[in-house]
Amino acid sequence: MDKPPNSQDQGINVDVGGTPMVDGVEALGSDAGGKGQLRQLFDSAMQNNPYFAAGGGLMLLGTGLALAKSGMVRASRLLYRQMIIDLEIQSRDKSYSWFLSWMARHPQRISKHLSVRTSYLQHDNGSVSTKFSLVPGPGNHWIRYKGAFILIKRERSAKMVDLANGSPFETVTLTTLYRDRHLFTEILNEAKDIALKTNAGKTVIYTSFGPEWRKFGQPKAKRLLPSVILDKGIKEGILDDVHDFMNNGKWYSDRGIPYRRGYLLYGPPGSGKTSFIQALAGELDYNICILNLSENNLTDDRLNHLMNNMPERSILLLEDIDAAFNKRDQTGEQGFHSAVTFSGLLNALDGVTSSEETITFMTTNHPEKLDKAIMRPGRIDYKVFIGNATSYQVEKMFMKFYPGETKLCREFVAAVDNMGATVSTAQLQGLFVMNKDDPMNAIKMVTTMKTNEEFII
Ligand SMILES: Nc1ncnc2c1ncn2[C@@H]1O[C@H](COP(=O)(O)OP(=O)(O)OP(=O)(O)O)[C@@H](O)[C@H]1O
Ligand SMILES: [Mg+2]
Repeated sequence: MDKPPNSQDQGINVDVGGTPMVDGVEALGSDAGGKGQLRQLFDSAMQNNPYFAAGGGLMLLGTGLALAKSGMVRASRLLYRQMIIDLEIQSRDKSYSWFLSWMARHPQRISKHLSVRTSYLQHDNGSVSTKFSLVPGPGNHWIRYKGAFILIKRERSAKMVDLANGSPFETVTLTTLYRDRHLFTEILNEAKDIALKTNAGKTVIYTSFGPEWRKFGQPKAKRLLPSVILDKGIKEGILDDVHDFMNNGKWYSDRGIPYRRGYLLYGPPGSGKTSFIQALAGELDYNICILNLSENNLTDDRLNHLMNNMPERSILLLEDIDAAFNKRDQTGEQGFHSAVTFSGLLNALDGVTSSEETITFMTTNHPEKLDKAIMRPGRIDYKVFIGNATSYQVEKMFMKFYPGETKLCREFVAAVDNMGATVSTAQLQGLFVMNKDDPMNAIKMVTTMKTNEEFII
C-alpha cells in the first residue's frame, strides 16, 4: 500500500512538526520532500495533462461568461429603466375606455388583435341603429404618434374580476422612450377631449345594471327647458332653488351639513315631470341617473350602493317613489310588491356620502302614499305639484305646435275649458302630433280626449 512519506499514517490532514495546518497541501508543504512531490504532481497534471488543463480553462471561461452575462442583464435593465417609460391604465379608470376609443381612431397603428364594441340604440319609433367600432383587443399593438413609436399592451387578467360589474380586470400599458414621455399626457388629453366632445350638447342617461350604472343608449340631444311647458312660475321656482343650492357649497361645508338637496315632483301621469327633470339636467349640463323604485329586482342594498356610486355631474332621478311604501301598505294583499322598503329608501337618502353636491329628484303619482318621514329636510327639501294642463299651459302648448295661430289658439283654449274635464299635457301633445298641420281638426277633436285621472292633493 502506498503512503505519502512522513504522513504518520493519519492521512494528509495532520499537524507535522508543529506547523500550523491550513489545509492538506500547506501541511504537507511544510515538509520539504512532500512539498516537492505534491507540486510536481500538480504541475504535471496542469501542464502535461491536456484534459485537465482544458477543463480548468473551460471552467474559468464559463465563470467569466456567466459574470459578463449577469453584468449585461443588469446593465440593460438599468438602461431600460433610464431610457424607456411605461404608463399603465387600469380598466376601472375612466380614461381606459377613452383611450381604447382614441386608439381605435388612430390612423397609424399596427394591430393584429381587435375586439368589437357594439353600440345599439332603439329609437322611439322602434327602429334600431347599430354601430360597430373596432378597438384594440388583448395583445400587443404598435402605434406611431407624433414621430414616436409606442408599444401598447392590452392584458386581461384570468384571475382578477372587477367586482363592480363582473368583467375581467384589464390593463393597458403604453411603453415608449423616456424622452417621449410627454406624449402620454398628450394622448390622454386628446382621448378625453374626443370623448367629451361626443357628449357635448347631450345628456347621458344612466340606468342601473346590477350594482352599477350603465349608459342607456347613446347620449341624447339635450332637451331644452322651453320645450317643457309647466304652469306659471314652476320652472323658474325650481331653477332658482337649484342654482341657489349649487352656489352655496361653502355654506354647507362650513356648517358640516351634507351637501345635498332633494326635490319631489308629484302629480298625475303625463304632466311633464320626467321631461322637465331631463331638460333641467341639460340646462345645468349634468347627466342623469334614473332609478325606478317600482323595478322588481331593486333591493335596499342595491339602491344604497347605486346612490353612493353615481357617475360625477349627475342628477339622481328616483321615479315612482311611492313604490317603496307599497310593501308596508299592501301587506297581505296580492299583486306586485317592490323590494325596496321605506326604511331602505330613507337610509339611502340619508346615507349619500358624496363630496360633490347631490341633487335628487323624486317623482310620484301618489303623494298620499308617502310617509311623512320622507318630507324631512335633507330628504325632500322642495316639493311641487305638477298638475294637468291649465289654460295657460294649453295656450302655450298650442302655440308651440302651431306658431302664429293666435285666433285658433283662443278657440282651442275655449273648447278645452268647455269640455269640463282635465287633460294632461301629454294628451295635448298626442292630439297635436295627430293633427300636425291641421289646427282646425285639433279643435274639432278636443272632445275625443279622455279625462286624465282625477288627482287628490
Ligand atoms: N308639460 C309638458 N310640456 C311639454 N311636453 C310634455 C309636458 N307634459 C308631458 N309632455 C310630453 O308627454 C310625454 C310624457 O311626459 P313625461 O314622461 O314627462 O310625463 P310624467 O309626468 O313624467 O309622467 P309619469 O307620471 O307617468 O311618469 C313626453 O313625450 C313629453 O314630451
Ligand atoms: Mg315620469
